[in-house]
Amino acid sequence: MLSLEEYRKLANDEIAAIPYPATPNGLYEPIAYTMDLGGKRLRPALVLMACEAMGGDVKKAVKPAVGLELFHNFTLLHDDVMDNADVRRGKPTVHRRWNDNTAILSGDAMLTMSSQYVAQVDPAVLPEIMRLFNQTAMEIYEGQQYDMDFEVRNNVTLEEYIDMIRLKTSVLIGCACKMGALIAGASEANAQALYETGLYLGLAFQLQDDVLDVWGDEATFGKAIGGDIMNNKKTFLLIGAMQKAQGDDANELRRWINNEYALRSEKVPAVTALYERLGMREAADEAIKRYDDMAFDALSRVEMSDEAREAFVQLIKGLVDRKK
Ligand code: IPE
Ligand code: IPE
Ligand code: MG
Ligand code: MG
Ligand code: MG
Repeated sequence: MLSLEEYRKLANDEIAAIPYPATPNGLYEPIAYTMDLGGKRLRPALVLMACEAMGGDVKKAVKPAVGLELFHNFTLLHDDVMDNADVRRGKPTVHRRWNDNTAILSGDAMLTMSSQYVAQVDPAVLPEIMRLFNQTAMEIYEGQQYDMDFEVRNNVTLEEYIDMIRLKTSVLIGCACKMGALIAGASEANAQALYETGLYLGLAFQLQDDVLDVWGDEATFGKAIGGDIMNNKKTFLLIGAMQKAQGDDANELRRWINNEYALRSEKVPAVTALYERLGMREAADEAIKRYDDMAFDALSRVEMSDEAREAFVQLIKGLVDRKK
């Protein structure tokens, strides 16, 4: 098995070699800008790790791994428009540096490029890979729609939230694990258990993202703190706070949610203080731990070498207290 850093490097080298046509520059420059800004490369690393863990040739997984990273980055371009986000990976978002139309169209091109990369697999596994990829993509759009729908709904349940983040975030992480396994020709049972490992890991990952959106360090996280609070995103933190808050706390929280013209400099610290008073950070940490445990559980059902299992264990553990 290679190390996580080596999987990242394989993906990064292939990303650096993406051939962009010279024109029209307005279409391709924002794509190169986004892809070259880095990021954790979690999804391609998982494709490569899963492929090797299932006894496959890692070289056969590099193109589809980069395909998933292209797809992920496409969703980010559109997500930043939808979330009105100014910063990503420490740099202005594409729609801020250029404009919304650029984010839409460069995103569209990235979606097609992602398909072209994912499709570079052995013909024998191509139909199943494309089925998985297309189904995952549709689920992500559904999750993103729920995410937006929930902004203006104040009765979202924890169950609905978990299903929303399963769709918008987890399925791609599950897909990465399963895609690597399919490329390696793994058994259906192993591919499915790896998919479930990724699903639970993805739930923990999105919960952690919600936590970092409130308590992260902007420079390290690379995104503006408090975006979810400003958008009334129905995160684990806000749903829990709305359920727990009593009396004055409940009134204050309701006022902030209903105040369309709240200043960022006032609303973000006030809602953060409410979350802290209500113990939401601890509650989120516990939930993250629960989902990580479920990921470990699913992982234990995968038949693989001790070395491969250890690689997954270390990857999951490394994400628990991530700062970015
Ligand atoms: C951001 O994904 C979107 C979420 C699903 C939370 P990442 O946190 O993996 O972002 P990068 O690719 O490392 O920038
Ligand atoms: C991201 O959710 C999910 C997708 C991009 C599909 P977020 O909106 O929380 O991601 P960030 O925080 O902007 O990276
Ligand atoms: Mg979003
Ligand atoms: Mg966002
Ligand atoms: Mg977020």
